Amino acid sequence: MRKSAKERGEPILREKSFELLINTVKNRRPKTILEIGVNEGYSGIAMLLEVPTAHLTGIEIDEQKAERAKLNYRAFGVETRAKIFLGDGSEIIPLLSGKYDFIFLDGPKGHYGEYCDNLISALNCGGVLFADNVLYRGYVGKGKKAPHKHATIKHGMETFLDKITNDKKLKTVVYDIEDGVSITEKLYE
Ligand SMILES: C[S@@+](CC[C@H](N)C(=O)[O-])C[C@H]1O[C@@H](n2cnc3c(N)ncnc32)[C@H](O)[C@@H]1O
Repeated sequence: MRKSAKERGEPILREKSFELLINTVKNRRPKTILEIGVNEGYSGIAMLLEVPTAHLTGIEIDEQKAERAKLNYRAFGVETRAKIFLGDGSEIIPLLSGKYDFIFLDGPKGHYGEYCDNLISALNCGGVLFADNVLYRGYVGKGKKAPHKHATIKHGMETFLDKITNDKKLKTVVYDIEDGVSITEKLYE
């Protein structure tokens, strides 16, 4: 799937970040997973295969990608444990009523700051929020400059990182690998 996605220019999680994702899932063994930005289902399928008791809810804005993800879920035999909400994360995330043991944030890069509070609320105690691209192209952080067209993403990511690193109920580690990954554990409500 990775090779085919790469050939077609479809974005999926980079290799080291993917390894970190799967190791984290393997250690935590979540029962409920939320993935924001499903694309064709690559990382979701890998997480479900790693933890055969887990169920995944995905959010994907692109109908074609969501349909392809559903076909891939079937091809890998995880379709009964995976469902997709088709639509915009900005509209769906505030309406989520479920609680999750693991959230993989890999959707629109300019919206992480906006999504943060709702995602932390949707996380169970002891649960983990895993976010990709948090150091976006090396532009994120005080004193770092971003071209004008990436200024919104830089600002949103800095808001996100500020929240997850300064909230006392959270414990966060930021990994300077590939495009930057953060892993946040919710310690208490
Ligand atoms: C990097 S890809 C996800 C890759 C996937 N998590 C994986 O590792 O296999 C990001 C996805 O987010 C989706 N996306 C972009 N904006 C979105 C939005 N506002 N709401 C929901 N999904 C969105 C894109 O269509 C794209 O499929």
